[in-house]
Amino acid sequence: MANKILVTGGLGYIGSHCVVALCEAGYEPVIVDNHSNARASVLERLERLTGRELSCFDIDIRNRAGLETLLQREPCQGLIHLAAFKAVGESVAQPLRYYDNNVGGSVSLFDAFDAAGGGAIVFSSSATVYGDVEAKSLHENMPVQPTNPYGQTKAMIEQVLADMVRARDARSRGLALRYFNPAGAHDSAIIGEDPKDAPNNLFPIIVQVAVGQRERLTIFGEDYDTPDGTGVRDYIHVVDLAQAHVKALTVLLSGGFDAPFTALNLGTGTPYSVREVIAAFEAELSRKLPQTMGERRPGDVATLVADPSAAMAQLGWRAERGLEAMVRDAWRWAGAARQWGLWDEDT
Ligand code: UFG
Repeated sequence: MANKILVTGGLGYIGSHCVVALCEAGYEPVIVDNHSNARASVLERLERLTGRELSCFDIDIRNRAGLETLLQREPCQGLIHLAAFKAVGESVAQPLRYYDNNVGGSVSLFDAFDAAGGGAIVFSSSATVYGDVEAKSLHENMPVQPTNPYGQTKAMIEQVLADMVRARDARSRGLALRYFNPAGAHDSAIIGEDPKDAPNNLFPIIVQVAVGQRERLTIFGEDYDTPDGTGVRDYIHVVDLAQAHVKALTVLLSGGFDAPFTALNLGTGTPYSVREVIAAFEAELSRKLPQTMGERRPGDVATLVADPSAAMAQLGWRAERGLEAMVRDAWRWAGAARQWGLWDEDT
């Protein structure tokens, strides 16, 4: 019988791609999602894409009793924990909501999972835990010093997980995956990034401009210490990211790590500026996108690029898709989402 894997936030952007990658690798995902940032149609599209009936439960991760009951009914050997609030600005305005949902929810979830027998825990962390650091690329042993409540929650959950799995009677092992900038969509164009609220990130904002839902794109600053003055990031295709989760889980389940807790960067190591991302979209669309130069966005750093070598060494994983594929797949997904009327309600 296939190993069951609990996936919290399994209807979200990264979660839905993880569900597909898990099915492809022969696992049986058990989805938990409270629909706070996912459309009802995601499940149906996931079932179409995977050709399977999927188990999905509407449980908030803070509901420990609900999780306990679920894990008794559906014993899971692994956990991919992605459910979280993720808007940096909102976290500054509503810190307690973030600590309650992200940190409180993770404590309740980890506790329920370990009490049910434990297993392999893969946690969705973020490069934001490194904070505002001046370095060409970021390595896992650099200091963790987040600069906003959202980043703090990710750093705290890493610590909670590390302490929990290091405890003498722990039954679980843990791995935190520090994402750089996820982008793109599944190449079937059946699932992709589909934020219920107004997006804050570069890719979905460019897509909104390209489809005419937003008048123009504002480039947040051209006076950074980068080759063309605009912000530089390490964009990683969401399918590469999802496959890394499955690799991580497989390595953990086979006892492949010496340490009970490990943190790994997930990036490509290739830097792209805001201007380069816009140029890649313009090449894909064969037209110019309306754009204007604006002020720096508060809290943004000049450069955030991964040293991806540890993930390569420890998971045997590397990102295979480049910027062109991210742009192409994001654009195809936008075409499909519009065709199905998914985004009509937002206009
Ligand atoms: N940008 C623009 N215009 C926009 C949106 C973004 O110029 O309309 C620029 C940003 O200034 C930045 C780059 O595009 O230089 C990427 O911005 P994103 O918002 O797409 O991504 P961030 O790197 O700011 O955010 C990511 C994750 C967050 C995480 C953060 C840590 O999305 O979850 O990294 O820095 F907290």
